[in-house]
Amino acid sequence: MRDRKKLFKEFNKEYYTSGGYTDYLSDFKQEGLDYAKQLIKKIKPEKSWKFLDVGCGLGGVVLGLRKLGYEAWGTEVSPFCLENSPVKQYLQFGDILDLPLADNSFEVVLTCDAVYYLKKEAVHKALLEIYRVVSKIFFIENICQDSIYNNQKDNYDPLRSDKDLLTKAELDHLIQKIGFQKIGPLFSKGKYSLDFNNLYKKI
Ligand SMILES: C[S@@+](CC[C@H](N)C(=O)[O-])C[C@H]1O[C@@H](n2cnc3c(N)ncnc32)[C@H](O)[C@@H]1O
Repeated sequence: MRDRKKLFKEFNKEYYTSGGYTDYLSDFKQEGLDYAKQLIKKIKPEKSWKFLDVGCGLGGVVLGLRKLGYEAWGTEVSPFCLENSPVKQYLQFGDILDLPLADNSFEVVLTCDAVYYLKKEAVHKALLEIYRVVSKIFFIENICQDSIYNNQKDNYDPLRSDKDLLTKAELDHLIQKIGFQKIGPLFSKGKYSLDFNNLYKKI
């Protein structure tokens, strides 16, 4: 756990303002709102549904969903995000491998670009945690071994392994083996469609 605590501290201000994330501070609110709008359009949730974003960064999607009138919460491991998010009152510390949340407590759980920091063998545990806390819909976006952005030249991120990730097919297979049924991509065209991005139903 000591090593993981050290890793969490590396998601600091420098990380969110350099490399692949140079524009993050200026873009996260608009990107979060775009995501939130697409998600709502696709899944047509009831107004009472609760959303959770695991590894939510500065909380752009949480902010976007709340602007659209939905109850949304986030978990993060980054002290920088937990202290500086504009929606920090809706965020709490939560490692994707051990979420401090009750079973079936959110109708929708999403995680965007957080799983690729895990070693391959830990991804199964993370997906089981998500399966435990979600009751209806799961959305995941992730850079995989065979994603076109899985290289440090196009998307510099010193904390992401670019050699030891699951392929898109392996990740999809693992998610379905756990008990999710595939609905399909949220983004099928445009820049967000370049990564692995899929919606699943809990069965
Ligand atoms: C590339 S950023 C993505 C942030 C946000 N989801 C987005 O798409 O804008 C990855 C985030 O995952 C978080 N993260 C890394 N490891 C995590 C873990 N074990 N549990 C939860 N979040 C984690 C990092 O702190 C970081 O904010």
